[in-house]
Amino acid sequence: MSETYTVKVRDRAKGTVYTLEVPEDRYILHTAEKQGVELPFLCRNGACTTCAVRVISGEIYQPEAIGLSPELRKKGYALLCVSYARSDLEVETQDEDEVYELQFGRFFAKGKVRAGLPLDED
Ligand code: FES
Repeated sequence: MSETYTVKVRDRAKGTVYTLEVPEDRYILHTAEKQGVELPFLCRNGACTTCAVRVISGEIYQPEAIGLSPELRKKGYALLCVSYARSDLEVETQDEDEVYELQFGRFFAKGKVRAGLPLDED
């Protein structure tokens, strides 16, 4: 018998909170769409981080989230397109590119980009 959990999604871009009923064996993103809720996504296979959220409370299971480093998972980020609820949950969407930059931004920080802060171009 499968459990169903209540998942609250705070959409920061839209300033809305959605409440979804998500069966434990369904992806959260997919269930949101079925319930008429549009959330950001692109690849749908755990690679691009467009659907990333931060978990505020509850437990999420995301074995296929290959696009997210173990470090960011530990910090509570999750990819909704490949995430299952394991308890009632509250999550919030991230600004576009926020998680991508957290993950890959450090490569730039080490290089010239940081050193050469954008100077006036006159
Ligand atoms: S839509 Fe690309 S990681 Fe979820």
